[in-house]
Amino acid sequence: MKVLVVGKGGREHAIACALKKSEKISKLYCAPGNGGTEQIATNVNISELNNEEMVEFILKENINFVIVTPDNPLANGMVDAIEGFAKVPCFGPSKEAAKIESSKIFAKKLMTENNIPTAKYEAFESYDKAMEYLKIENKYPTVIKADGLALGKGVTIAQNFEQASEAVYDILKNNKFGKNNKKILIEEYLEGVEASVLCFCDGNTIKPMISCMDHKRIFDGDKGPNTGGMGAIAPNPAYTEEIAKICENEIYKKTVEAMKKRKTPFSGCLYVGLMLTKNGPKVVEYNCRFGDPETQAILPLLKTDLFSIMMAIKNKELEKINIEFEEKCCTNIMLASKGYPEKYEKGFEITFNKQNEYEYIYSSGTTLKNNKLITNGGRVLSVSCIANTMKESIEKAYEAVKSIQFENMYYRKDIGKKALEILNL
Ligand code: AMP
Ligand code: GLY
Repeated sequence: MKVLVVGKGGREHAIACALKKSEKISKLYCAPGNGGTEQIATNVNISELNNEEMVEFILKENINFVIVTPDNPLANGMVDAIEGFAKVPCFGPSKEAAKIESSKIFAKKLMTENNIPTAKYEAFESYDKAMEYLKIENKYPTVIKADGLALGKGVTIAQNFEQASEAVYDILKNNKFGKNNKKILIEEYLEGVEASVLCFCDGNTIKPMISCMDHKRIFDGDKGPNTGGMGAIAPNPAYTEEIAKICENEIYKKTVEAMKKRKTPFSGCLYVGLMLTKNGPKVVEYNCRFGDPETQAILPLLKTDLFSIMMAIKNKELEKINIEFEEKCCTNIMLASKGYPEKYEKGFEITFNKQNEYEYIYSSGTTLKNNKLITNGGRVLSVSCIANTMKESIEKAYEAVKSIQFENMYYRKDIGKKALEILNL
């Protein structure tokens, strides 16, 4: 089969690497892809937001199966366009189902109406009403969120009234996230360890993958601004079997049922961002897609053929397929350009020493020039290592980092530290 992956990040490179192992795939394309995908697939220069050109290409090349993973094309209805116009099966949720990520108010309503545990909230369009609420509530920290997609920057944890009112003003009066993103949520602050659980879902059945922990802040010790993710470990040691059971019954199954009930069944990968609080697990957010860099830490552990799972999902036969993960640990460390997530330079050559068989190198922001990988983004590339224990996988991953060089390379030195603390190591 000819398969097309839409996207250009590390997540897409990791998915492409997993798909390369499938005997069912004869040719793999990425649109637009990056330097890493170009080394294993054929890159196609079409923007991930251009539904029309994507459909044209799929028809022209006789593509048999498409996988759409980034948030923007999913919110922009690419799956509907491909299935509707090209009549080709496409892995990923419809535009309506993608609302679970593209509208936080939609997600919150879904949760409260279906008794899915989450932080208490109020939604506002009116600046005056939001300010009035802040004054009456007067509890800090409090969380202010933009309703729509905001490149991962839509959340403010406000420590006091000044910070909260500034965040409210920025979104409702200053159009910080655009004219069409002018609704907010004011949410109860949740305390605990965060866990990301990505789940395969075919609209009826939901199967969680191995749990994960992202490291969102730019600096060690979870300091500095949020990023797209600076590294991840899997499994997440705080996500015990007991918690997993609660999540299955109280969160995952209920979410699938709720989406089905409103006639927008969720098909694809449902990412559940959890806060493991002392009152039990609560949903912080849903994403309608694989996480980045969670995918880079999870897929190296997947034993089952990823493409077979994706096809089973499209055939609504997820129930029948047995999904297995290695009982090992994986650590992913992101290498970024100095200055990210603010200003940074690109265009530097990346050099590698030898690569071991337990190492996986995934490009995020790279491009290929004369067979050389060149930095082309804030997050440049990441390395994942598998081992029998968490401690060993962290050590191996940091050892592997030493064999990669580029000018202005920056990475966190404490990926997995929190996981080791939870394990009392
Ligand atoms: P989101 O964009 O919804 O994923 O939020 C980004 C990050 O903000 C989350 O990963 C959490 O670390 C934090 N966050 C969001 N909502 C809450 C909340 N209600 N309480 C505490 N932290 C939160
Ligand atoms: N790692 C968080 C995300 O993919 O949004």
